[in-house]
Amino acid sequence: MSHNITIQKTEKSRISSVDFNNIGFGKIFSDHMFLADWDGNAWTRPRIEPYANLSLSPATSAIHYGQAIFEGMKAFRSEGNVYLFRPRDNWRRLNISAERMVMPEVPEALFMEGLTSLIRLDQDWVPGSEGSALYIRPFMFATDDFIGVKPSEKYCFAIFTCPVGPYYSKPLRIKVEERYSRAAPGGVGFTKCAGNYGAAMYPTKLAQSEGFDQVLWTDPLTHTLVEETGTTNFFAVTNNCVITPNLHETMLAGITRDSVIKVLQKDGLTVEERPLTVTELKNLHTSGMLNELFISGTAATLINIEGFAHQGQYFDVLTTGNTAVSDKLRNSLDQIRHGKSEDIFGWIEKL
Ligand SMILES: Cc1ncc(COP(=O)(O)O)c(C=O)c1O
Repeated sequence: MSHNITIQKTEKSRISSVDFNNIGFGKIFSDHMFLADWDGNAWTRPRIEPYANLSLSPATSAIHYGQAIFEGMKAFRSEGNVYLFRPRDNWRRLNISAERMVMPEVPEALFMEGLTSLIRLDQDWVPGSEGSALYIRPFMFATDDFIGVKPSEKYCFAIFTCPVGPYYSKPLRIKVEERYSRAAPGGVGFTKCAGNYGAAMYPTKLAQSEGFDQVLWTDPLTHTLVEETGTTNFFAVTNNCVITPNLHETMLAGITRDSVIKVLQKDGLTVEERPLTVTELKNLHTSGMLNELFISGTAATLINIEGFAHQGQYFDVLTTGNTAVSDKLRNSLDQIRHGKSEDIFGWIEKL
């Protein structure tokens, strides 16, 4: 089904005021945004407007009861072309989140037409320098102005974009979390609902005050199994295989995680998706079998872990290991995302 998207262009682009050599992450927003409204029965008024503040009632349901979900994806520029990386996987995951949060499904055509129309209009904002990309933020939130606790009847689905540079600039020091939990069995850990991120901020702030960059979440019941970090999935490279925690309902199924697994397997490496205990990780390190740790995510891309702390002991992985597997992988993924190597998995969509 084709959606009739109305387009109101900005009168004056802001692009000339942007220093593309110094874009950072998430502070600069492109000229336009896409919006559509769920009226209780259907998606209505799909439109592109100049990027601007939204006007909301103080009683807006999402602000009080947290029916708010989002996605994160990227577009890349290469030799005059713009490529989207696995956008339909983000569309699918948005609807997984929507179902769990009792929010309406976004049809594939609305998502893709809104996305491609927006990026076509703002394609000059897709940066081309190494390590940069256009970060794309699709999101949906409940818009009823009603203060009773119940699923909202009305919703807004929107997309805006930001030109971004690298999220992290150096290998990370992480703390294995044993006190706090990110998600619980039967909860919403497998969704990208806003509350998951709000709840993670306090433990993350504590870890940062202790000199770490991120928390490595463990399972909420025993705190013995490794899960993921704040916005990334986790990989351990040993002498003979790559291990990543198997997915379950307290973890987010990263699209980069899936891409990493498939590229590693194509390159002939053995990838084990299985429970990984903190004890096994420490033993691998102590026996000299742990070559690399890295994390994967759309925003963070592929970042090495310098080392991890557990119960007051720090295990430095970078000085004893190397970065051979992650370096090669980062390069392979970059080539695919920029349309420079054959897209054997069907992951990129040229704008
Ligand atoms: C909690 C969490 N884990 C993992 C990821 C990585 O997912 P992806 O590779 O799809 O960006 C993200 C980012 O969306 C995240 O928020």
